Amino acid sequence: MKLIVDTDVGIDDAIALLMVLAQTDIRLLAITTVAGNVSLAQATQNIKTILDIANAPAVPIYQGCARPLMRYAALDAMDVHGDDGLGGAGRTDSPRPVSDEPASLALLRLARQHTGRLTLLTLGPLTNIALAIRLDPTFLTHFERIVMMAGAVDVRGNTSAVAEFNIVVDPEAAHIVFDACHRAGVTVQLISWEATLAHPLTPEAWADIIAGDSPVARLTQTMTDFLNERRVEYNEPHILWPDPLAAAIVCRPEIILNQEVRSIAIETGHTLTRGQTVVDYRHRPDKLPNAQIIREVDGQQFRDLLRMAVHHFGGA
Ligand code: BDR
Ligand code: CA
Repeated sequence: MKLIVDTDVGIDDAIALLMVLAQTDIRLLAITTVAGNVSLAQATQNIKTILDIANAPAVPIYQGCARPLMRYAALDAMDVHGDDGLGGAGRTDSPRPVSDEPASLALLRLARQHTGRLTLLTLGPLTNIALAIRLDPTFLTHFERIVMMAGAVDVRGNTSAVAEFNIVVDPEAAHIVFDACHRAGVTVQLISWEATLAHPLTPEAWADIIAGDSPVARLTQTMTDFLNERRVEYNEPHILWPDPLAAAIVCRPEIILNQEVRSIAIETGHTLTRGQTVVDYRHRPDKLPNAQIIREVDGQQFRDLLRMAVHHFGGA
């Protein structure tokens, strides 16, 4: 499988990337970065850190948008992911190069070059993707498959009462993307915040998965220590892995047990509901569905993939 990952590299993005890197049948053509959990520069730095710690071969890295389409300052999630986005495990000494081609242009070029044979996985705000769509409205049609971690489809927001982080950081971008799906007849596979809540891990189960002494195991342990403090602070009893869940369905589509195809739209108004993912449960012949909402995956296979993400890369 040929894959591109667009990400704002916080802690769960890091685990998702490790999962993808651990798959021998996935060829990672590019990683594109976007501002979200952390700044664009920090997200790009974090990609290098993860690739270095995993001792991964060269993967082209492209920087994307440093801020949302319509706002000067992006919301961030450094309270959850740490100042460096990796819970203090970040490094600054990587020799890996970053391309000077902007992410949206690289996305467009690669999509056209590998048309029909490419999977896109988005783990952050949809700014780079929206920009590529504005450059070429057929952009999304070049992908064989598009998987996104985005949205609160039952209105159980994690960043506002109604909105999920990746959408509310840049609702205009999300609107452009889902509207373009409607127009082009594209259906994306969606891991929502509710799907994330439906697949919790106990802290004990996660501690068991990350036990070990390899560089990647130690990275995940440092990130987990940070995350555990936040979790307790926010009264969250479980370990929740939104981006790894999206990566898991990229790696093993067959782990999907329950899904529904719906039409969704994004609220861009400046009210309490800004960034809400609006799911239409009506059957409207005039509106094609644009999202396959994933409700349930095989928990055991998900945990196996998490274990693989941590232990594929061997000893110290
Ligand atoms: C999403 O927001 C980010 O903080 C996570 O990395 C994930 O992509 C969950 O709402
Ligand atoms: Ca993310």
